[in-house]
Amino acid sequence: MEAILLVGGKGSRLRPVTEHTPKPMVPTAGVPFLAHQLTRARAAGVDHVVLATSYLAEVFEPYFGDGASLGLRITYVHETEPLGTGGAIRNAARALTCDPGEPVLIFNGDILTGLDIAALVASHRAAGADVSLHLTRVEDPSAFGLVPTDADGRVLAFTEKPEHPDEIVTDQVNAGCYVFRRAVIDTIPDGRPVSVERETFPGLLASGAHLHGVVDETYWMDLGRPAALVQASADLVRGIVPSPAVPGPAGEYLVLPGAEVAAGAKLSGGTVVGAGARIAADAVVDGSIVLDGARIDQGAQVNASFIGAGAVIGSRTVLDSAVIGDRAEVGADNELVGGARVWCGSVIPDAAIRFSPNC
Ligand code: GTP
Repeated sequence: MEAILLVGGKGSRLRPVTEHTPKPMVPTAGVPFLAHQLTRARAAGVDHVVLATSYLAEVFEPYFGDGASLGLRITYVHETEPLGTGGAIRNAARALTCDPGEPVLIFNGDILTGLDIAALVASHRAAGADVSLHLTRVEDPSAFGLVPTDADGRVLAFTEKPEHPDEIVTDQVNAGCYVFRRAVIDTIPDGRPVSVERETFPGLLASGAHLHGVVDETYWMDLGRPAALVQASADLVRGIVPSPAVPGPAGEYLVLPGAEVAAGAKLSGGTVVGAGARIAADAVVDGSIVLDGARIDQGAQVNASFIGAGAVIGSRTVLDSAVIGDRAEVGADNELVGGARVWCGSVIPDAAIRFSPNC
């Protein structure tokens, strides 16, 4: 079975995490996030993956190569100008080899889910659908694409990010994983930006195509924002959502080879510590991502935060839901909470900050 993975987005909501690293390559539980998706796709019977790249496209192939180490064949299709989600699918389909009637899996490159992929494909075949969509239920659907269905799972409408409360007719939302009959992909316009959510799906529905929704409420997380990215990494480390790509057994923390954790430091909540990172005595790191070569000094307290590669967190500094860019230096006795973001390479002196969203 073949799959297209959409990995070309700019990931602007995640900045500065995505300043130098595309979202699907951000280390999550010790490996680029994409590694989790690729191994899960492989386990579901996918043998050929087409990566639709655009933003920072050059970093994917040196890491994953031809895919053989994952038991996959990986083909890279680059967009010189971003084509949007639908345009990227159409463009990447050039590299598919299956027959027009065969199903093709499409994944957004920023979704972590325990979805039974094989069951989605089976349901697609049984329904005889043109396109099937994984749907999940969320408490506040307003930030998502709403997809109401009838009792048989037939899609009735698409409402992308509803602005008016009257438009919220369901809690079922587009979860970013689809099965397309190969020939349907060829109906997407070629060579121009197209949004699959705003143009392709509503257009197919209006033309009478059979769109089938499969509600699956297993683990699902959209890693578009920092808090979700950090949470997903912690959930992977703790085995709440299993992934064969996590480089270690499930547990309260994961320390990669070459990291130094002093006696008396406390790691918990699914924290991952990257190679060459150093955690000093009495530091407390809970539910966080600490990338390679970062340093957390004595007595610092880090909770639900992202610490970029080579960043330094000074003694006694408190971070809560903070994002610290690569090589940034936060001096001693600072307090950054509530989603504070520190840009790559910036320097914050000792005791200079008590909460700032953008430093
Ligand atoms: P934001 O800028 O924070 O909205 O993130 P994003 O750029 O990743 O956009 P979004 O989360 O809506 O994208 C959903 C998926 O589609 C992600 O996996 C993106 O990598 C991918 N994607 C979005 N736009 C493009 C595009 O123009 N080309 C390709 N190849 N992929 C895209």
